[in-house]
Amino acid sequence: MNVVKTILATSLACIAFPAGTLSQTSLIDRGKQLTEQVAKCQDCHTPRTAAGELDKTAWLRGVRVDPVADPVRSASGKPHVHIPDITAEGTLWMLWGEKGMLRFLEKGSSPSGATPSSHMPTYKMRHDDAEAVVAYLKSLRRSVPPATPGPGPRR
Ligand code: HEC
Repeated sequence: MNVVKTILATSLACIAFPAGTLSQTSLIDRGKQLTEQVAKCQDCHTPRTAAGELDKTAWLRGVRVDPVADPVRSASGKPHVHIPDITAEGTLWMLWGEKGMLRFLEKGSSPSGATPSSHMPTYKMRHDDAEAVVAYLKSLRRSVPPATPGPGPRR
């Protein structure tokens, strides 16, 4: 009986795998859209270049606002607000983990129950939206290998 169960589980896993991979990709895409088009996290969490453009090389990696250089962003009047890196490589993820980030997006408070000060909007996202955003933030790693590496010559 156990053998039958194992075989069944194995074959199910084989069938489920490609579908799972696909839906993970679309989850990340949805998260990217929610993050960038709807919530616009990058407007505050991405540093700007000298020309005032969002710095694509530091996407969502946090900003230390200098109230003199950037009076708009420091409109709260608080000196040097630290806007954290929200990618999965940031310190915040190390402290909060995936569950903490999910909770933050769904409930608007940190794992310790604290709500952010100043200009961070309070989000009450739907669970599946929060999951999509988390999947996207998790996908932002500097050292990600290409999703589908080509056959290319070996070096
Ligand atoms: C209008 C500007 C703005 C937008 C848009 C914004 N943030 Fe923030 N965020 C901030 C600021 C400012 C802080 C720092 C607040 C503080 O230290 O209390 C912050 C802090 C955070 C924190 C840490 C909170 C804590 O308690 O330490 C997380 C996590 C976060 N933001 C995630 C996001 C995500 C995810 C999005 C998009 C879904 C987003 N933020 C959009 C301005 C923004």
